Amino acid sequence: KTLLSIAIDGPAGAGKSTVAKKIAKKLNLEYIDTGAMYRAFTLKVLENGLDPKNENEVLSLLENTEIIFLNNHIYLDGKIVDEEIRNNSVSKNVSYVSSYSEVRKKMVELQQEMAKKNNVIMDGRDIGTVVLPNASYKFFITAQPEERGKRRYMELIEKGETDIILADIIDDINKRDKIDSTRKESPLRIPDDAIVIDSTNLTVDEVVDLIIELIKGVN
Ligand code: C5P
Repeated sequence: KTLLSIAIDGPAGAGKSTVAKKIAKKLNLEYIDTGAMYRAFTLKVLENGLDPKNENEVLSLLENTEIIFLNNHIYLDGKIVDEEIRNNSVSKNVSYVSSYSEVRKKMVELQQEMAKKNNVIMDGRDIGTVVLPNASYKFFITAQPEERGKRRYMELIEKGETDIILADIIDDINKRDKIDSTRKESPLRIPDDAIVIDSTNLTVDEVVDLIIELIKGVN
C-alpha cells in the first residue's frame, strides 16, 4: 500500500505543530512532533547535569536513550515528558544538542521508521529535505519574527507562566533560528519543492484550510 506523508518545516513559533495536529485530526493521519524528540533528549542531557555545548558529553548519553513519539505524547525512557520538554532551559539548549550529527542520525531513523508504518504528518526543520525527501506534500510555514514571538508568549501566558518578557522570547526564537539555519548538519531551509505559507496574517484555521485545499487541489 502507498502511504501518505506530509512534511511541515519552518522556523520556531510559526505555528507548525498547532496546524499539523489539526490537519492530522481532519485527515486521520498520525502526527509526529520531531521537535519534541530533540527536546526530550535535551531534557535528559540537562537532567544529567551535562553540558549541551559539549558534543562528547551529549553523545555519551545517546545510546542508552529511548525516545518515542506516540499518540501525541513524547516518551523519554518510558516516561511521558510532554510538559518538561517545554521548559525554558530546554528551549534555550535544544539547538546545540540537535546540531550533532550522531543525534540527528538516531532521530531521523526513528522518524523514517514511523513514516513507513503509517500515514503521517510530521513537523520539524529537516523533514522535507532529509527525513522525507519523497514526501507526498511539503509545506514551509513561516511568519515574521515578532509575530512568532507573540504567539509563543501567548502560549506561555495561557499555560500560567508569569515571569516572561516578550522581548526575551523573540530574542530566544531568533537565536534558535540562527543556530538551526546555519548548522552544518541538515540546516533549516526551504525544501526546493515545498509550498511556502506566510502565516503572519493568517489564523490557525486559515492555514489548516489552505493546506487541505492545496492537498486536494494537487490530487
Ligand atoms: O519544533 P520545536 O521548536 O519544538 O523544535 C525545537 C528544536 O529542535 C529546534 O529549534 C531545532 O533545534 C530542533 N529540531 C531539529 N530538527 C527537527 C525538529 C527540531 O533540529 N526536525
